[in-house]
Order: sequence, then structure tokens, then C-alpha cells
Amino acid sequence: MKTIAFFNNKGGVGKTFLVYHLAWMFADHGVKTLVVDLDPQANLTAMFLDAERLEALWPDDEHPDTVYGAIRSILRGTGDIAEPRVEMISGNLGLIPGDLGLSRFENKLSDAWSRCHNRNESAFRTMSAFYRIVKRGAEWGAKIALINVGPNLGAINRSALIASDQVCLPLAPDIFSLQGLRNLGPALREWRAVWAELLTKAPPDLPMPNGAMQPVGYIVMQNGILDTRQINAHNRWMAQIPGVYREAVLSEKIVSLPLVAHDPYCLSLLKHHRSLIPMAMEARKPIFFLKSADGAIGAHVEAVRNCYTEFQKLAAKIASSANIAFD
Ligand SMILES: Nc1ncnc2c1ncn2[C@@H]1O[C@H](COP(=O)(O)OP(=O)(O)O)[C@@H](O)[C@H]1O
Ligand SMILES: [Mg+2]
Repeated sequence: MKTIAFFNNKGGVGKTFLVYHLAWMFADHGVKTLVVDLDPQANLTAMFLDAERLEALWPDDEHPDTVYGAIRSILRGTGDIAEPRVEMISGNLGLIPGDLGLSRFENKLSDAWSRCHNRNESAFRTMSAFYRIVKRGAEWGAKIALINVGPNLGAINRSALIASDQVCLPLAPDIFSLQGLRNLGPALREWRAVWAELLTKAPPDLPMPNGAMQPVGYIVMQNGILDTRQINAHNRWMAQIPGVYREAVLSEKIVSLPLVAHDPYCLSLLKHHRSLIPMAMEARKPIFFLKSADGAIGAHVEAVRNCYTEFQKLAAKIASSANIAFD
């Protein structure tokens, strides 16, 4: 089982959209896929589940069936993780639902990070909670776990990333997104290095993630319709992406710089799907499964088909880097 996080320090770059579509694509190809919503905003959970199910999951009290339910005892200091409940979306697709209450875990995780330095066992239980929840949540046979996180470098994300074997970096061709890469590259390196050191102090009988967080590549979400001035700026940011990725994320010495379209680290240049997005939201399905009954008629039919091909190629690349069969 491989765990892959989708992460950028900048919000609105399509992380959640990507995880949703990739999960459906993997499942459509028979790859048993677990999706874990570790963004306390829980937008991804709201994409998968209808309003009635959400109401049932998020009543006023304890939320036993969300990720919050799984960490509740750790948060209170009364015990360890609980068995996470996996909501089956289809035969091959399971979700550990997100929860706004997860934000209460931020301070606890931040505190645990420093207490791990003192070989504190409960701090290691806290730090490895997400990792152990993902492993338990995959026990129905999931081959891949896709992790959705919020756009910050806080303690929840640090712990989510440490639980991940690999990381894909979604971005948009704009200044904020590039700055996001510049921030997160060094953060990933620091988390990797400190965690490697902390692992030498971990209790030997507790399963711990190795904290590889290996960068798979970046995914560019293209902008919608642009005017001339915007096109110039767009092209300028686009030209910078391969260099910033190499420098900030890989600390590679730059020999020569390819264009994004020819960059082996660019996993996909995703189209902007404008009018198909509200249609997909309404139909509660990925864009590439839209049918004429959902309103995908005329020129939309080809766009839907192209979207399928686009995500199929992206899923194949990610599967190949994770050593997972995909055909
Ligand atoms: N390829 C795309 N084409 C059109 N709109 C997109 C695309 N990807 C994402 N969006 C839209 O952009 C917004 C931000 O995407 P989201 O996935 O929520 O970003 P993030 O999770 O990085 O904050 C959402 O409204 C989403 O529907
Ligand atoms: Mg999101």
C-alpha cells in the first residue's frame, strides 16, 4: 500500500479537485483506493457525500465515523487511535471522512513534535496517529491511499506528510503558487530530516512511518480564459515553474531548464474545465463520468472524453512512480 499526499502551501490550486478525480480514476481501473480527508475544511468529504449523509456524520456530538472520531481519545489524552470508519463510495473506493473538529488536533500535534525529542511515548503515538489510521483504514485491501490536506505548513500537515510515502504538488501558474512551492520545498526537507532523527528515539514496538515524502512531480492547473496582459504574466510564471521546482523542492543544481510541457517532473498540465465543474458538482460525480442526462451534450461530450484521457494519463504516471499496477 502506498500513501500519496497532494500538497501546496497555496490554496485554490486544485488539490481537492485532483484527489477527487484521481480517486475515481484509480477505482475505475480496479485499483482499490482509500481517500483520507485531512483538511479540516472537509471540502473533499462534501464532494463525495450528499447533505443527508453529512448531517448524519456531523451531528452535534462525538462524530465517531469521521477522522475526528479516530483521533478523539488521543486528543483527550485518554487513549490511542480508534478503528477508523471507512465510508465505501463504490466497490473500489473508500473514504475516511474529514471533520472541522480535526483543527483541534493542531496544538496537540505541535506539542508532540517537540516532546518526541524527549523519547516521550505518547508523543510518538500522537505523531504517528494519521499514519496508523491510514494503515488501518486500508485493511479492506486498498492499494493506494490519497491524502487531501489544507494549504498550510502547520502541524496537522506535517504529520499527514510524514505519514506519506510520496507527495504530488499541484500548482497554478501564478506568483502565489510559486511562492507556495518555495515555502514548502524547504519545509518538506526539514520535516524529513528532523523525523529521521526522531525515529532513532521512537519506541521500538510502535509502527512508525519512515517519513519519505518523496516528491513525485508537479501538476499545473491552467487558468481559464485570459486577456493579453494576463497571458503575458501567465507565460512568465509558467516559465519559472521548472526552475523553482528543481531548486526549492529537489535542491537540484540547475543545468538546463525545460519548458513545463517537456519537463519530466510535470505530471500533467490540466485543462480548466469551466462549465463542466458546476455540472459535475450538481451530478455529484467526476467530470469524466458526466453523461448527456447530466447536461454534457454537444461540445461537452468531447471535453468529458478528453478529461477522462487527461486523468487516465496522470493516474498512470502516479501509479507507475508508486509501483502500483494500473491498466
Ligand atoms: N481543472 C479545473 N478546472 C476548473 N476548475 C477547477 C479545476 N480544478 C479546480 N477547480 C476549481 O478551483 C477551485 C479550487 O479548487 P480546489 O480543488 O478546491 O483547490 P484546493 O484544494 O487546492 O484549495 C474549486 O472551485 C474547483 O472546483
Ligand atoms: Mg482543498
